[in-house]
Amino acid sequence: MRLKNKVAIISGAASGMGEAMAYLFAAEGAKVTATDLQTEKLNSIIAKIKEQGGDAIAIAHNVADRKKWMDEVIPKTMEAFGKIDILVNNAGISVPTPFEEQTDELWSKTYSINLNSVMLGMQAVLPYMKKHGGSIVNISSIAALTGMSGAGSYTASKGGVSAITRAAAVDWGGFGIRVNAINPGYILTPMSEVFLNNEQYKQALMPAIPLKFFGTAEQIAKAALFLASDEAAYITGVNLPVDGGTTIV
Ligand SMILES: NC(=O)c1ccc[n+]([C@@H]2O[C@H](COP(=O)([O-])OP(=O)(O)OC[C@H]3O[C@@H](n4cnc5c(N)ncnc54)[C@H](O)[C@@H]3O)[C@@H](O)[C@H]2O)c1
Repeated sequence: MRLKNKVAIISGAASGMGEAMAYLFAAEGAKVTATDLQTEKLNSIIAKIKEQGGDAIAIAHNVADRKKWMDEVIPKTMEAFGKIDILVNNAGISVPTPFEEQTDELWSKTYSINLNSVMLGMQAVLPYMKKHGGSIVNISSIAALTGMSGAGSYTASKGGVSAITRAAAVDWGGFGIRVNAINPGYILTPMSEVFLNNEQYKQALMPAIPLKFFGTAEQIAKAALFLASDEAAYITGVNLPVDGGTTIV
């Protein structure tokens, strides 16, 4: 088991990539704190993990809520599992909007859920990881590495996630804390299915993907597992595209 005796907090764990990570990390021996706004889905995922012999707890949490990071996510994880080794900042939203239609509200909302949450999560686990090291995996996007049409606030927020990943990796390496990011390409999840399953959109995108298929949540979860695990012991500060080659063309 690749995460035996590790304790992992995963945000946005009720759907898509976060859900896939919760199952995979638990199957690999991690004790998992799964957080999300969708509590019913989260609870059924926790029940399934337990049925399969894993150990996990669910916490209803808006990732942009600093107080709840400090008062619930961290204390409840410590109470249940006694330490924190891994944090995956995965929760995010995408509201495609042309620049001309960008509002202050959308800009702030996207920033607070996609970027501020990453800073809050990293701040929250820092005192615990400082004691024995740890691994943080931030879910960015290929939007942080390329231009993406109709995605001004999303692109800017993910650019921030990629940048803060490098900054924290520099500052915290001395504590044995590794901080890495994954830049998923076009991945079939509830967030993206409505676009990616549209035949017109699919035909427009496919020529730009060297591997010629959309990725799966499980493929992102496998990359997160590698970066979270001790197999990546000498890797920090990277932005890893998991995108079928989309960013090389
Ligand atoms: N799907 C893609 O093609 C793609 C590509 C690049 C990056 N990403 C990123 O991957 C991450 C996971 O996305 P996904 O595709 O699995 O999407 P998803 O919509 O299936 O899952 C996102 C989860 O985050 C939760 N969430 C949203 N806002 C939240 C909040 N304020 N507090 C707590 N939880 C919240 C949702 O309830 C949902 O369960 C996101 O950060 C997204 O931006 C996705």
